[in-house]
Amino acid sequence: MKTKTIYQCTECGYQSAKWLGKCPACGEWNTLEEKEETIATDKGKGRKPLIAKSEQALPFTSLELPDYVRSKSGMGELDRVLGGGFVHGSVVLLAGEPGIGKSTLLLQISTALTQCDGKTSTVLYTSGEESRLQLHYRAKRLGVKCENLYVMTETDVERILSECDRLQPSFLIVDSIQTLSDQNVSSAPGTVSQVRECTLRLIAKAKSEGISVIIVGHVNKEGGIAGPKVLEHMVDAVLCFEGQRPSSFRIIRAAKNRYGSTNEIGVFELTDKGLEQITNPSEMLLEGRPVGVSGNCAACLVEGTRPMIAEIQALAAETNYSTPKRTSNGVDYNRLWLLLAVLERRLGLKFSSHDVYLNVAGGLRPDEPASDLPCCLALISAIKDRPLADDLIAFGEIGLSGECRGVSDCDLRIKEAIRLGFKTILLPYTNFRKLQTSKYDANVIGVKSLFEALKYI
Ligand SMILES: Nc1ncnc2c1ncn2[C@@H]1O[C@H](COP(=O)(O)OP(=O)(O)O)[C@@H](O)[C@H]1O
Ligand SMILES: [Mg+2]
Repeated sequence: MKTKTIYQCTECGYQSAKWLGKCPACGEWNTLEEKEETIATDKGKGRKPLIAKSEQALPFTSLELPDYVRSKSGMGELDRVLGGGFVHGSVVLLAGEPGIGKSTLLLQISTALTQCDGKTSTVLYTSGEESRLQLHYRAKRLGVKCENLYVMTETDVERILSECDRLQPSFLIVDSIQTLSDQNVSSAPGTVSQVRECTLRLIAKAKSEGISVIIVGHVNKEGGIAGPKVLEHMVDAVLCFEGQRPSSFRIIRAAKNRYGSTNEIGVFELTDKGLEQITNPSEMLLEGRPVGVSGNCAACLVEGTRPMIAEIQALAAETNYSTPKRTSNGVDYNRLWLLLAVLERRLGLKFSSHDVYLNVAGGLRPDEPASDLPCCLALISAIKDRPLADDLIAFGEIGLSGECRGVSDCDLRIKEAIRLGFKTILLPYTNFRKLQTSKYDANVIGVKSLFEALKYI
């Protein structure tokens, strides 16, 4: 073993022999830090290649394509986000803030994973954060009890891998990557080189032996996954676990997925019995909805293939500042500015003397343009201080001229709105034209612009 001094970027892990002000790889300034790196000198013990044997190039058409082998986690909401379950030999990163419920979820699905597809398989759960006793108490509280679930509290990646050789598990859960360390790397756990090295070793194991590995990752204050960005590039799927405390509502999204769509979300509620799936999130999002209050408008959104009714809330209060305040929760901040500009310019509403707050109830973050029309209606209702009808719902994109543009999945949205008892549905005229409105048990209205929408509210 010998050591040398190198400079490493704390953002992306780029290494350089000399100090640089700006990282050439990620473009961040002042992120290169001096560190000592130990180099393993015994050459034979180097890192194993990810693909075992060297391969010759083959004609593309000669490849046989067996389907991905997937295992269901027993939670339909999670399986949907994964694209139909865990693919054998894949590496999934589950990222989220502390206390959001990552360990709880993984302990809960462990039971189902030991018995997927009618045969028993072994699951190895390793924790570097909690003691065995803590894990047992949690398992008891959640009602998790099964024979083929092995638990170990370990932070040395070497020992975890050798336990894998002994137990031959089908699933390996690592909680969390920031606590793991590799003896061959001198830096502390959680640093760029440790995280990268440990992840590489876990990936090599997954690919060579077909073990599905689930890695827990912490999220830093800015909401990014702590540690190097390279971690996200290395794994097959990145699932983000989100929720706004004190709300018990939890959402899992795929930020990256090599085996499925990234549009789908999974919805859960965190209770003292663990995470419970919510298959009809609309009901929960509308629960406790105020009646006859100005500034509220229901919106019919679609997340992946699932329609979801959310409530958009706006508040306009006379400002005490020279520059009025704008706060947005759930809707993109720049989108709020854009919509306010459209409302001011096209409808002549004066928001310049008001502080404006926009919020999507339930911690949902709709990032589709269909939320524009309900946001505008909520803002109009707020500034005029006149409530909208309680059974009114809207969706549609608003353009800069105040025009209302068509959106996708119109039929899906209308059906969900009707299922939840909405009687008046405002939607873009371009969508309305193609609809057979008589088949719906509601007053479906197509509008060409914001101005036209005003006539109906
Ligand atoms: N004894 C308990 N009874 C009820 N809820 C608990 C108990 N212990 C922990 N929790 C809840 O479970 C949540 C999730 O914990 P955990 O799964 O450890 O989060 P993470 O692994 O993401 O940091 C905690 O935020 C807490 O609200
Ligand atoms: Mg935890």
